[in-house]
Amino acid sequence: MAFISSGVACSHVPALGVAADTGISGDDYYGPIFDGFEFSRQWMEKEKPDLVFLVYNDHCTAFDARVIPTFALGCAAHYEPADEGWGPRPVPIVKGHQALSAHIAQSLILDSFDITIMNEMEVDHGLTVPLTMLFGQPDAWPCPVIPLAVNVVQYPAPLGSRCYALGKAVRKAIESFDEDLKVCVFGTGGMSHQLQHQRAGLVNADWDDRFMNLLVNEPEKGCQIEHIEYLREAGSEGIELVMWYVMRGALNEKVEEIRRFYHVPASNTAVGHLILENR
Ligand code: DHB
Ligand code: FE
Repeated sequence: MAFISSGVACSHVPALGVAADTGISGDDYYGPIFDGFEFSRQWMEKEKPDLVFLVYNDHCTAFDARVIPTFALGCAAHYEPADEGWGPRPVPIVKGHQALSAHIAQSLILDSFDITIMNEMEVDHGLTVPLTMLFGQPDAWPCPVIPLAVNVVQYPAPLGSRCYALGKAVRKAIESFDEDLKVCVFGTGGMSHQLQHQRAGLVNADWDDRFMNLLVNEPEKGCQIEHIEYLREAGSEGIELVMWYVMRGALNEKVEEIRRFYHVPASNTAVGHLILENR
């Protein structure tokens, strides 16, 4: 049977993708960030998941104001890197796993999570940057990826508690799939950041730390954080952090924190990263 062994939380700051793609990931500005992920790349080489289930948000790339699905599950055979205005990132095509996607779609919908089924979808930095940070720059991604896109761009975004419940349903779906697959679940986005208007550049390291502590050790409590708190404390784009709760819901109540990395600044945001193993 398929099973979930670990979870990864990771910011998806687009500048990190640009830094890797243009060969400046070792410079004074980006070096400390990429060094901070070195442990994680080594961990990933040993962990060797057979599949990544990756929760991210689309940034008006595959979707725009005409169609805004709250939860959209990738069910395609592959996903092309999107052109976000300066050409597609020179990263490998993301291969999917259609049989497992179809199984998850069925399981989620029969479990009352009425997700949108995406048989074709281009993927933006929200998905490709975390792959770069954890897998480096291979000619092909080492395993298939199933994307789950969550709307955190246009209110109403889903609640953290709903994302947590969805994570539990994703786990049930994966663990009822009749193929031996070791699955790593990614929750991406965050941490505190605001990209526009008067509070642009907002970073709240104390709140980010508290957020990570609750996520790891008291997820039942942390998933109750309300939209208004994300907005006030973590800035307008801090709401991306609800996606970390899908990942957390897919893990055991008790997890071991294998790695935590936090760095300011990257672009004008904080970068946060966790590796959690099921215990
Ligand atoms: C930026 C964009 C993002 O989507 C994000 O999650 C963090 C930072 C940026 O444009 O800098
Ligand atoms: Fe983002």
